[in-house]
Amino acid sequence: MVKAKTAYVCSDCGAEYSKWQGQCASCGAWNTIKEFKIAPLVPGSDAASRRNQDRLGFAGTLTSKVQKLCDVSLEEHQRYTTTFSEFDRVLGGGIIPGAAMIIGGHPGAGKSTLLLQTVCRLSKSYNILYVTGEESLQQVAMRANRLGLDTSSLNVVSETSIENISSFIEETKPQILVIDSIQVMHLSYIQSAPGSVSQVRESAAMLTRIAKTRGIACFIVGHVTKDGTLAGPKVLEHCVDCSILLEGDSNSKFRTLRCQKNRFGAVNEIGVFAMTDRGMREVSNPSAIFLNRSENISSGSCVMVIWEGTRPLLIELQALADSTQNPNPRRLTVGTDSNRLNMLLAVLHRHAGIQMYDQDVFINVVGGVKVEETSADLPLLCALISSYRDRPIPRDTICFGEIGLSGEIRPVPSGQERIAEAAKHGFTRAIVPKDNAPHKTVPNMQIVPVTSISQIVDLI
Ligand code: TYD
Ligand code: MG
Repeated sequence: MVKAKTAYVCSDCGAEYSKWQGQCASCGAWNTIKEFKIAPLVPGSDAASRRNQDRLGFAGTLTSKVQKLCDVSLEEHQRYTTTFSEFDRVLGGGIIPGAAMIIGGHPGAGKSTLLLQTVCRLSKSYNILYVTGEESLQQVAMRANRLGLDTSSLNVVSETSIENISSFIEETKPQILVIDSIQVMHLSYIQSAPGSVSQVRESAAMLTRIAKTRGIACFIVGHVTKDGTLAGPKVLEHCVDCSILLEGDSNSKFRTLRCQKNRFGAVNEIGVFAMTDRGMREVSNPSAIFLNRSENISSGSCVMVIWEGTRPLLIELQALADSTQNPNPRRLTVGTDSNRLNMLLAVLHRHAGIQMYDQDVFINVVGGVKVEETSADLPLLCALISSYRDRPIPRDTICFGEIGLSGEIRPVPSGQERIAEAAKHGFTRAIVPKDNAPHKTVPNMQIVPVTSISQIVDLI
């Protein structure tokens, strides 16, 4: 009789231990170690031989060979288009055959809708297998019908067993595979519930191996945890080629598609979609929606130009400074880094003499966009000073720039393109770092070069 083995695995990083402990020694997270029963394998059984096959992989038969890098054929890197230009841009120009891509997002973000629309449009030109584990075939068909999609050549199957899916792949030989979602998939030789760390890890590893060896482009839908990271083991992100997040506020119809990891293109590229009653629609001019401002301007609002991947984006940033009796005033940011805000407040005090210790400070980036760029420093301080002094910044003004610890204003990359984008949207004044000011005059645009933070305070 073979005894069942117990394993303890960290649900964040996937580290394994022989006994339970409160903190994961490898990643330092608390209470993430979960217990798993590993199925006893009867030697000689179907599952045991399959497991041995999987474990050994191709070690027995030498299928790969050592060669010069320049001799490696490049032809399989012809990309397929997704038919959505926003989606293509995020992927770095289209789908690469043999790539495993994970698409994460909150429930209701529109992952299933986006993928269904993509594969229905592509099914005329490519052989596609859509595996649904979460929804029934009827639900998928009803959704496709309601969205008015052409379903005549799309292969669909409702299945949750990876072993069966690999048989279907043998049978249909798809070029593109969609797995919705990895959390419901399971392998028979791992005896733990679908969605558990070992199931997710092994299922994803198996799928990526199939994708790699057969040149199938594989989209894997994954759930995210409350803090927005992919649920399950971190190794999931290591074994796939692209990790894409579909983000969006549940009460806003706009969704942004963002690449966190991409082996075939730039990260930070964002694609903007709108969820409509006819499914996902791409938004080709995102600045226009994020800039939907009311007529009468008030203090504490500033338009900034951030650089997302390969294009500029105009976004409004709002700040509110409110006097408080609280000895520990509040510092709250939505869409920007709160540590950065604390740093900027210190710079503001030290180099411009404006103290905020008796003020609650709130920062909000409009439209649910997350800004990680340092070019948001200057707009943030402009909006904050504007709110504190109650001096509105004129509607036609944009700004961008990084602020250093000695109160100097530093240039940011792609200054010219940012100014050009603002001019395209009808802005007529740009407050920019001196080194970013163009040498030639820009038509219909007044450039205000600034070098220090005290200059900004005077300006506002
Ligand atoms: P879905 O793709 O099922 O989300 P996910 O797979 O990421 O969980 O999207 C479901 C949500 O999208 C649901 O809240 C309703 C909304 N929706 C629309 O607004 N319009 C549509 O045409 C469709 C299909 C869905
Ligand atoms: Mg879904």
